[in-house]
Amino acid sequence: MTQVTASAPGKFVILGEHAVVYGKPAIALAIDRRFTVRVSPGPEFRINGEPADINANPHIKHVSSLYDMRPVSLYTESRIPPGAGLGSSAALSVAFSGAMRRLHGLAVEPESVAAEAFDAEYAAQGRGSPMDTSACTHGYGVALNMRGCDRPLWSLEKGGNRWDVHDIDVPAMTFVIGHTGIRAATGPLVEKVRKFRERNRFASDIVDEIGDVTLEGMTALRTDDRVRLGELMTYDHKLLSILGVSCKELNKLVDASLPHAYGAKLTGSGGGGCMIALTDAPDRVAEAIRSRGGMPYTVSTRVEGLTVGR
Ligand code: MEV
Repeated sequence: MTQVTASAPGKFVILGEHAVVYGKPAIALAIDRRFTVRVSPGPEFRINGEPADINANPHIKHVSSLYDMRPVSLYTESRIPPGAGLGSSAALSVAFSGAMRRLHGLAVEPESVAAEAFDAEYAAQGRGSPMDTSACTHGYGVALNMRGCDRPLWSLEKGGNRWDVHDIDVPAMTFVIGHTGIRAATGPLVEKVRKFRERNRFASDIVDEIGDVTLEGMTALRTDDRVRLGELMTYDHKLLSILGVSCKELNKLVDASLPHAYGAKLTGSGGGGCMIALTDAPDRVAEAIRSRGGMPYTVSTRVEGLTVGR
């Protein structure tokens, strides 16, 4: 029987989340934790051996709808904590799209996978940018809307917005991710910022400032200037806090990490989920995170994107 295995990495946003929704630059890096799916055609939708209600799985439903809702059996395995802002649903959408393309004899072009997976994320969340799905498809690092980037990957449009996605050089770096243990859905947080920005000039200025910080962060990343990159990350956390997307648990983990790190900030949509710290002392940061009730994950960058095999 035909069976396809595909896998995609999780990701974190190093700079620019939320502002990217409004066309500002952002940088996301793939991490060495992956989502793997094994897909085969079947008489009904099954997930991990059990009959599945496809309506309860919007990402799978959306990708399947591009293939006439032909039923498949999926086995999933993930090392990406769900609901944590680490791209678990994006990696699932990317891996499933890659597997479905191969299963249906289509070329597994990263650009097509990134577009299909972004459609699935957008349909599930009702909003957002193609940052997560692009990072999970391409791997390594991607920059969105970054002027002066000379390695274009693809451009995607939705809801009157357009995002240009570029490949960037990523130094091998160690980050410690601290999970608050609080699940927070992306959609309502993006909506919160949208309303704040629409009604308040000050919020719109903060979004612009995040864009400027991200541009400067790109230079720091290019020159591997970890001190500056860390300072910018910590400043970005303050800006995101002003936008109202941090929470006391995230602030606690950021503060605990800072004595042992170049910088630290929330990552992804916030409201819970995870923070990241750039550090040369991962054990000390992990211990600090644990001592404040968080769950640490030490991750490396420079990770391969989507892989599809049989
Ligand atoms: C989520 O990882 C990042 C946000 O900017 C939303 C998005 O870009 O889709 C908050």
